[in-house]
Amino acid sequence: MEEKNSAGSSQINIFIYITAFVAALAGLLFGYDTGVISGAILFLKDQFHFTANIEEGVVSAVLVGAVIGAAVSGSLADRFGRRRVIIATAMLFAGGAIGAAMSNTVSMIIVFRILIGMAIGVASYTAPLYISEISPPNARGALVSLNQLMITCGIVVSYLVDYILAGSNSWRWMFAIGALPAVILLIGMMALYESPRWLVSQERMKEAREVLSRMGQTENATKELIKIQKSLSAKEASWKELFSPWIRPALFVGIGLAFFQQVTGINTIIYYAPTIFEFAGFESHKVSILATAGVGVVNVVMTLVAIWLIDRIGRKPLLYVGLTGMIISLGFLGFAFSLPQLSEALKVIAVLSVMFYIASFAISLGPIFWLIISEIYPLKIRGRAMSIATMGNWGFNLLVASTFLTLINKLGKAGAFWFYAVVSIGGIIFCFLFVPETKGQTLENIEKHLKDGKNLRTLGC
Ligand code: BGC
Repeated sequence: MEEKNSAGSSQINIFIYITAFVAALAGLLFGYDTGVISGAILFLKDQFHFTANIEEGVVSAVLVGAVIGAAVSGSLADRFGRRRVIIATAMLFAGGAIGAAMSNTVSMIIVFRILIGMAIGVASYTAPLYISEISPPNARGALVSLNQLMITCGIVVSYLVDYILAGSNSWRWMFAIGALPAVILLIGMMALYESPRWLVSQERMKEAREVLSRMGQTENATKELIKIQKSLSAKEASWKELFSPWIRPALFVGIGLAFFQQVTGINTIIYYAPTIFEFAGFESHKVSILATAGVGVVNVVMTLVAIWLIDRIGRKPLLYVGLTGMIISLGFLGFAFSLPQLSEALKVIAVLSVMFYIASFAISLGPIFWLIISEIYPLKIRGRAMSIATMGNWGFNLLVASTFLTLINKLGKAGAFWFYAVVSIGGIIFCFLFVPETKGQTLENIEKHLKDGKNLRTLGC
């Protein structure tokens, strides 16, 4: 059953948009700080003359940090509140960026990149969590996906900054620029309110009511508070509860979606696009960079399309369409590379396949993984449960990024892309069997469905 928004009307207060936009700056930092290394590494290599192993260490430091950040911060957002945690990560982002920019040794760079990674690990789940909790159900998909839109914008901006600064060898500036959105995030979040749902979980009813009315929900604030309160039981949730039988299915969906978002190969394209274009036989540096920028732009544009569709046609249809597109494009990419030599026509097929793949990811697994994990967990343990799915996401990301070149050695280029295609087929089956449709549902309704012991997949049917 579809429900009206929590205020009982379908109008959305401008204040909600501003709040979501500011929190989504965390996504911009996520995208920028993961993307910037692809350009910076070239100059770091020149200056510090490091080996391939150290290069791998510098590139993957952020991913390692993100796994650690997501793992150790599990209960922070539940204990200290969403807003305060985002403020702390904004400081870490800014400090890490300045530290990396001022580093004089490779080990200093690695340490600061790990710190930035930790900020990404925490912010990557706290920002969508916070946005989800301030959003009315009929626009929650679009508002939470603003975070993904910002991730894709951050990636494009990082490519652009790398490109502009490449002529001047300024790897320090490449890192330092990341401090700017961090400071804006910090100031912005200081001016915003805490999530009303988290406030209720702390029994701070007066403040929760105030925030709800700021969000234009004055009339229904009391009704809303009662609903949120009902979803909480008196005693504090423990880690053990996270694995209790009624929550397990949601945990499984989160970790499963994390697996499929990463092991279908997205970051082999995001991190290695120029290498893939080189494999396809583009010798000119300029063409490779242009094609890579194209990948970034398609990613942004199709995320906008997803935002437009996500609350209209729902999450599951988009997952099916997107995953089917990913399977087809990976199949073609593998085919192009299975031939002994790429003719001009096949080069075009390779580039089009990459673009089609990115477009398919951007309307499906890209935004929907982060969205669904912000929706399906019970309020009491939402922060902790999201941090587990997020840790899985970064762990799988690290695994894929560090095995891609080895996979190519073992299976060949065609084999590697076909492998990701097969995993994508598994993704469709997984979505069909386990993933719920959360479109239009209140968070409290989703929680009640789980609590009643109903099959998660039947939600929204
Ligand atoms: C993924 C990242 C990926 C990005 C690309 C995000 O949803 O978690 O791993 O690099 O999308 O747009």
